[in-house]
Amino acid sequence: MTPTPTLTIRGFKVFKGFLRPDEQVKMVEDLRVVVKRAPLFSPVTSSGKKMSVRMTSAGKFGWVSDQSGYRYEPRHPTGVEWPQIPDSVKTVWENVTQFNRMAECCLVNFYSETAKMGMHQDRDEQNFDAPVVSISLGDEALFRMGNTTRGGKTESLWVQSGDVVVMGGDARLAYHGIDRVKFGTSQLLQNGGRINVTLRVVT
Ligand code: SIN
Ligand code: FE2
Repeated sequence: MTPTPTLTIRGFKVFKGFLRPDEQVKMVEDLRVVVKRAPLFSPVTSSGKKMSVRMTSAGKFGWVSDQSGYRYEPRHPTGVEWPQIPDSVKTVWENVTQFNRMAECCLVNFYSETAKMGMHQDRDEQNFDAPVVSISLGDEALFRMGNTTRGGKTESLWVQSGDVVVMGGDARLAYHGIDRVKFGTSQLLQNGGRINVTLRVVT
């Protein structure tokens, strides 16, 4: 049985405190191993603007963005293969989706004090049947949820360390973004900031 969400907003299923503190610590340790092999980088949007979030990936595909656009690539910009998705992360996917396929991309986003992410849709995948799973670690952040078309009314929610959000069904192609991070609200990361792990089936 899939677990019951704490709340559902516009089809976004929110599981508050899905990860216990010790599970969060373990996941951060696992992600440090990923980042050692595949260092965080600052993507540039197709319009040439540097994103404020630094990112890297694990899995078969990693999401990259540069002057030639957004896409999935089988290798990190340095040429190394993306590391495997850690088991601690895979377990969350399995428990929360019970989808018949494993995530192929584990995008790791790091938000420093001033980072944010503009409203966007996740639509670079070939498969929209699979949900997108988003895990929050570290400082809390204001997550904004909108509609399947740009604009219109939106709602926001503070997501905290250990929270998991599932974007499936009606919410799979809904616009979403991060307005801001409340720096220093969690002790999980030594130097503060927020990690967001996003899991997707790509093909
Ligand atoms: C994203 O939409 O890629 C990230 C969302 C988040 O940081 O929670
Ligand atoms: Fe997204």
